[in-house]
Amino acid sequence: MADELERSDSPLSLPRYRYATGWYQVAWSDDIAPGDVKKLHYFGQELVCFRGESGRINVLDAYCLHLGAHLGVGGVVKGEMIVCPWHNWHWNGDGSNALIPYSQQKCKKNLRIRSYPVQDWYGLVMVWHDRDAGEPYWQPPRVPELENGRYYPLHPHGRMLNRVRVHPQMIVENAADPYHVGPVHQGDDTATTSFEFKGHHLHATIETVYGKGKPSSWLTPNGPVQASVTYDTYGIGLGFVRFPSEVIGTVQITSHTPVDDEYTDYWFALASEREPGDSGDEPTGRAARFLELQRNVIRQDFFTWENMKYLASPNLTPEEAKDYMALRKWARQFYPADAI
Ligand code: FES
Ligand SMILES: [Fe+2]
Repeated sequence: MADELERSDSPLSLPRYRYATGWYQVAWSDDIAPGDVKKLHYFGQELVCFRGESGRINVLDAYCLHLGAHLGVGGVVKGEMIVCPWHNWHWNGDGSNALIPYSQQKCKKNLRIRSYPVQDWYGLVMVWHDRDAGEPYWQPPRVPELENGRYYPLHPHGRMLNRVRVHPQMIVENAADPYHVGPVHQGDDTATTSFEFKGHHLHATIETVYGKGKPSSWLTPNGPVQASVTYDTYGIGLGFVRFPSEVIGTVQITSHTPVDDEYTDYWFALASEREPGDSGDEPTGRAARFLELQRNVIRQDFFTWENMKYLASPNLTPEEAKDYMALRKWARQFYPADAI
């Protein structure tokens, strides 16, 4: 896909550097238990993720600074350190060299493997990526719906991962595109009613009608429902869609993590309001059906993304131009200035 991206000096083109600054999901927290080591490949780089015995999680560049072994292939956790499989050098979670077991030198104090800010956030392992290794200047937000017990948990039943041949910004641009909802997602009478930027945060409201023309459906048992669906996008890597209780109260969290110059890992997790009286972990009834519906909705966009050409100068109608152009201009703040 990289060759097919249209480049130009247009303020609406994609920056030359693909990996925008921000928080991105790289794993599910419960897939990396204390003592586990996992090889990762994101942002065009080999990485290693390991969880110390205390539960603290770390992400480092993959290669040992002794002679270059991949710490994610045969490396083991010892306490809070990762031990290289080749000559057993020990590395701390911040990437500093902790121990050279066979040398009178003990360790090389000035050596440090690049480490990435990382956190467990509602069961998602989130990494801060910045090409220039700047510190995070914002944090993933709180999600009240996941803290009050009225919703099913996100994990393990509400989640999905797809690897898609798409630039991550294309996924975010969906928020400015209500006119694909009819043809692609079979939504009715969809229109954007608010579109607001606050620094790294985009908040949008989309009005849509569920169950149009049907006296009753499983989602709209009492007839058609006009619903306000909200989008909250934080940088290029993290997005929320919220559905109101008139349909079924739901929070959907997606993360769009660039793998390399072609692919993006599109992480998805969803939690809906519990069915009355159900205190289990696995969604049932309408919540289960809505989860299945949204899993399909997410995948409906893939065929356009995987086969399209990104136009730096699209031909937009008056109805769509303002929000679409504003979104593309907003997105540029997340790329290194010398790559725009
Ligand atoms: S390459 Fe890692 S200890 Fe030698
Ligand atoms: Fe879509």
